[in-house]
Amino acid sequence: MPGTRLLIAYGSKHGATQGIADELGEALRSVGVDAVVMPADRVSDVSDYDGVILGGAVYAGRWHVEARRCASRHAAELRKRPVWLFSSGPVDDSAERRDIPPVRGVARWMQRLGAREHITFGGALTEHTPGLIAHSMVRQGKGGDFRNPERIRRWADHIASQLRSAG
Ligand SMILES: Cc1cc2nc3c(=O)[nH]c(=O)nc-3n(C[C@H](O)[C@H](O)[C@H](O)COP(=O)(O)O)c2cc1C
Repeated sequence: MPGTRLLIAYGSKHGATQGIADELGEALRSVGVDAVVMPADRVSDVSDYDGVILGGAVYAGRWHVEARRCASRHAAELRKRPVWLFSSGPVDDSAERRDIPPVRGVARWMQRLGAREHITFGGALTEHTPGLIAHSMVRQGKGGDFRNPERIRRWADHIASQLRSAG
């Protein structure tokens, strides 16, 4: 697997999804994958990579716009390589208790890109999250950091084993 190049691109408004992408990158590098993490709007070419993970925060039932734009911009090249999608959303422990299916738009991207899998990770909304809506949600007790590093690393291991069997 050394020499396997993997791109992890993310659409994140307030940093929670970026944190998940960073965690995935670290976990994959620790098992020898040459993983590069970058914001989805900075992705100019995916043809150098053997596989791509594309993730986005979910806001009002929609994937982050930069994740959608990245999928659209690179659809033809993404279809030719293994792709995995993830979403960061629920600000409660529901993602720990059951598999949360992708929102409709992301399910459509799975089909269009021939993505192998999708996973929903718990998100984060804390007193540090900027924005009036976020502040009032936190005030109403609807906040918290529900990202689970262990679950994120497990998914990274799972992807590493898929890359291994592909190579
Ligand atoms: C205004 C607002 C709307 C949200 N809508 C959804 C939603 O529809 N579904 C969901 O699972 N999470 C929703 N969330 C939670 C975010 O997806 C979660 O906080 C996410 O981890 C944020 O990622 P980011 O910091 O990378 O932007 C919402 C959060 C806010 C502030």
